[in-house]
Amino acid sequence: MWSNRWLFVLAAAGSAVGLGNLWRFPYITGENGGGAFVLIYLICIALVGIPIMMAEVLIGREGRQSPVNSMRSLTQQHHRHRAWVLVGWMGVVAGFLILSFYAVIAGWALKYVFSMAGGGFAGASGDQAVAAFDQFLGSPWEMLLWHTLFMALVVFIISRGVVAGLETAVRWLMPLLFVLLAVLVGYGVTSGGFAQGVDFMFGLEWGKLTGAGLFDALGHAFFTLSLGMGAIMAYGAYVPSSVSITNTVVTIAVLDTLVALAAGLAIFPVVFANGLEPGQGPGLMFVTVPLAFGQMPLGALFGTLFFLLVGFAAITSAISLTEPALAYFVEQRNVKRSKAAAGIGVVCWLLGVGTVLSFNEWADVHLLGQMTFFDLLDYFTQNILLPLGGLFIALFAAYALPKAVLKHQLGIKTALSEKGWLLLAGVVAPLGVLAVFLVTIIGLDNIRAWLS
Ligand code: TRP
Repeated sequence: MWSNRWLFVLAAAGSAVGLGNLWRFPYITGENGGGAFVLIYLICIALVGIPIMMAEVLIGREGRQSPVNSMRSLTQQHHRHRAWVLVGWMGVVAGFLILSFYAVIAGWALKYVFSMAGGGFAGASGDQAVAAFDQFLGSPWEMLLWHTLFMALVVFIISRGVVAGLETAVRWLMPLLFVLLAVLVGYGVTSGGFAQGVDFMFGLEWGKLTGAGLFDALGHAFFTLSLGMGAIMAYGAYVPSSVSITNTVVTIAVLDTLVALAAGLAIFPVVFANGLEPGQGPGLMFVTVPLAFGQMPLGALFGTLFFLLVGFAAITSAISLTEPALAYFVEQRNVKRSKAAAGIGVVCWLLGVGTVLSFNEWADVHLLGQMTFFDLLDYFTQNILLPLGGLFIALFAAYALPKAVLKHQLGIKTALSEKGWLLLAGVVAPLGVLAVFLVTIIGLDNIRAWLS
C-alpha cells in the first residue's frame, strides 16, 4: 500500500505526465489547428476525464487487486454479469499495444539526450533541425537500438518492484522538468513568436475544428490522464482508505493539464519564430526543442537535461502501462515478477518493431486508408480502446456498484453530491464519449451542413 496520500498522487502523476503531455499534446494540437481543439480537450478532461478517473480509483480501491481480478470479484460479490471482467482484459491488451509504440518514441528522447550533449544543435536553423530528425527517422537500426534500450530499462525496473524508485523519480525529477519547461517558455516569450503561439493555442476558430479533431481531443484526454485501461485502477488498489479520491484526482488532472499547456507554450512560439509547420506531426517536439536550446547559452547542458527528464517521465508512465498485466500475472498465475516483466517486455518490443519501421521501411505501407502501422495502433488505442474502456468503467461504477459502496469510497455525505457524481459519471461522461463517437460516424461536416 502507498504509505500516504502523496505517494499515490506522485505515482499517478508519474503515470499521467509523460510523452502524452510533452510530445503528443503539442503535435496533435498542431495538426488540429490549435484553439478550438484545445478547448474541446480541456472540456473532455473536466467532464469526461475527471469522473472516469474517480471511477477507476474507486473500483481499484474497492477491489484491492489487479484490474482484471478487481472487476471479477466486484461483479461476483454484487451479482453482476461476468462480461464486466472483459473491461479488465481490454485494458491489459490496450496496455501492451500502447507500450509497444510508447517505447519507440521514448527511445527518440534517449537518442536526443546524446544528440544534445554532443552540442550539434548550437545555432542550428529550423531546416537543420528538421533534417537531423528526418535523418534519424530514416535509420531503423538506430531507432531500434534506442527502442530496445528503453524497453530493457522498463523491464529492469518493473521486475524489481516499483514503489521506491518511482517515488524518488517523481518527487525530484518532475519538479526539475517543470523548471526546464519554464526555461523553455521563458525562451518562447523572447523568441518573437510568443504572441502567435498563444494565439494559435487559445484563439478560437471553430471553422478549423474537424470531426477528426474532436475525436482526437477525446482520445487524447484519455491518453494523457492514463485512463480507460486500468492503469489508474491498478494504482488505486494500493490507496489507503483515508485518502480523498476527489481531491486527489482533481489535483492530478490539473497538474497534468498544466504540464501539457506549458509544453505547448514552450513549443509553438519556436514554431512560429522559425517559420516551421505546426502540423508537421510526431517530430514537432524533436525539432523545436533542440532549436530553442541551440540558441540559448548553456543550451547543450539544458537540452541534455531536458531530454533526460522526458525519458524519466516516459519511464514512470511506461511502468503504469504494464501494471495491470503484471499485477494480474503475479497474483493469479503465481508467475515470478521478473518472468512476467520479461514476457511483457518481449511482446511489446516485437510489436514495437512495427512502429520503428512505420517511419522508414514501411512508411508507404498504408492500412485502412492513409494510416501507417504506427498511426493505426495510435488511433485504435487512443481513439477507440481507451474511450470504450473508460465508458464501461464509468457505467460500472455508476450503475453496477451499490450506492453504499460509492458513498463510502467517495466519502459522499449529502444526497446532492451523490446525485451530482452520478450525473457526471453515469450520464455526462458516457454521453460525452458516445456523442463524440456518433459525431465521428456521422461526420462533423454533415452535422454542420444539416444545422445551417
Ligand atoms: N499518460 C501517459 C502520458 O501522457 C501515458 C500513459 C501511461 C497511459 N499509462 C497509460 C496512457 C495508460 C493510456 C493508458 O504520456
